Amino acid sequence: MKKDNERKYFNFAADLKYAKMIEKLKKEKNAILLAHYYQIPEIQDIADYIGDSLGLSQIASETKSELIVFAGVHFMAETAKILNPKTKVILPDLEAGCSLADSCPADEFKIFKEKYPDHIVISYINCTAEIKTMSDVICTSGNAVQIVESFPKEQKIIFAPDKNLGAYINGLTGRNMLLWDGTCEVHDILSTEAIINLKVANIDAKLVAHPECKSAVLELADFVGSTTAMLKFTRTDKARRFIIASETGLLHQMKKESPDKDFIIVPTDETCSCNDCLYMKKNTMEKLYLSMKNETPEIILSDETIEKAKIPIIRMLEISRKLNLIKK
Ligand code: 13P
Ligand code: SF4
Repeated sequence: MKKDNERKYFNFAADLKYAKMIEKLKKEKNAILLAHYYQIPEIQDIADYIGDSLGLSQIASETKSELIVFAGVHFMAETAKILNPKTKVILPDLEAGCSLADSCPADEFKIFKEKYPDHIVISYINCTAEIKTMSDVICTSGNAVQIVESFPKEQKIIFAPDKNLGAYINGLTGRNMLLWDGTCEVHDILSTEAIINLKVANIDAKLVAHPECKSAVLELADFVGSTTAMLKFTRTDKARRFIIASETGLLHQMKKESPDKDFIIVPTDETCSCNDCLYMKKNTMEKLYLSMKNETPEIILSDETIEKAKIPIIRMLEISRKLNLIKK
């Protein structure tokens, strides 16, 4: 399945042509192009802002542009719409979903939540707008520990949808949050055996991992953090070589920011080292150009969903500002 996706989206001459047309459309339409670090390098290079989910949410909430073009996945574009409802938000491919968001269907989560009326709900931002409407506060990988710690120790908490991130936070904070059984199919399959082999073969390299990885992987890691945090770590740490347990797109910025350092991506198994998120990679330069030209596909949400889903996201941004995790 992974092999089908291998760089078939790459065509240098065509991408250069699209890059020029996209730049022109940005000016004509007063549009802002936001991109996640897992996007293809060509898209990252023409974005107005590249970031993790936390940074992207903040920019989406503050921009005065007339069109938000979201080069990321559906829940990210939805979050931008919730935070900036008067602005048109487009996503180059509506099928750019997320296995983690899909692992938490709203009807099943509602039944689960009703069983624990004395629990509050902290949801990872990788969930649908509907799950957000059922949440008390949202978190991202960039602020999850601090958001959980902002509640008293005795507070009962349901954490959804990522069980790996939830277990990691439980371990760090000594809490016992109830975890929804969801995972990211990209991070959850990273092979512990491959990591051990890589560590043995590269003893000078530090292992850097996203908290969506399994606990066995996180226990081996020298650093665990969001995409932005991993990028900062590889830029500022003294080590010259790093093993990266995350998605391949992140290596583009790592190499740009630290051209003198080496990065080794963790393979998913012994036959494939292409841990692309197939959802993130749905967006191509051609689709990006066409979506900007036609201003479709647009993210549409009901006013009621926007109003309800906004409350826990704003709460997250407020806590993050107070703790200086994002700029005021
Ligand atoms: P970050 O917020 O760390 O960028 O993670 C988003 C994501 O989808 C990781 O799989
Ligand atoms: Fe979702 Fe995983 Fe892809 Fe991130 S990498 S968008 S969590 S499927």
